[in-house]
Amino acid sequence: MASPMRSLLTNPNRYLQAFRLFLANSTEHQCMREFMERQLPAVIASIGNEKPTINILSVGGGAGEIDLLILSKVQASYPGVTINNDVIEPSADQISKYKERVAETSSLENIKFTWHEETSYEYESRMNAEKKSKKWDFIHMIQMLYYVKDVPATIRYFQSLLEAQGKLLIILVSERFVEWVHTSIARAK
Ligand SMILES: C[S@@+](CC[C@H](N)C(=O)[O-])C[C@H]1O[C@@H](n2cnc3c(N)ncnc32)[C@H](O)[C@@H]1O
Repeated sequence: MASPMRSLLTNPNRYLQAFRLFLANSTEHQCMREFMERQLPAVIASIGNEKPTINILSVGGGAGEIDLLILSKVQASYPGVTINNDVIEPSADQISKYKERVAETSSLENIKFTWHEETSYEYESRMNAEKKSKKWDFIHMIQMLYYVKDVPATIRYFQSLLEAQGKLLIILVSERFVEWVHTSIARAK
């Protein structure tokens, strides 16, 4: 049987319905913000030691809200250091919103943004075809692994792109919450 999360993703109407329920009933953004405040500084404490530039890869960066929060924490930990922030994001609409957010935000002067309009798999295929394996100090995949067909292979690939002191951050909602969303939709019908 397909997993509850996968069946949500293959049905756009059901997904939108679920997402609205999710936002209405979860403390997702609040939890994420708490994590960024309390835990993230320790996670990134060693990624940029003595480096003139910190390279960050956001996989499925969406409209950039969480990315900018992460970047503010990296800036606070490494004041004045140049940051290259690359974003893999297949949705043109999300990229456009991300660019608007960057344009409206001050204190991003030392950050260079590069957007790749493609999926994580397309990025991997393109890098392999170009024989490139750029290394990263920090890679994050926040609420995006649900969309990927081969999760272990995706994690293995991006983990292989980490610098020696690099860190990979993955954030997902638990399957139990998705099951709860399914049940709630079924009851609402
Ligand atoms: C739920 S959003 C999360 C956005 C952002 N990380 C956040 O937490 O606010 C998931 C994002 O992953 C993107 N996405 C979907 N499939 C993807 C794939 N195969 N590779 C990379 N990103 C993908 C979607 O377009 C969407 O912007």
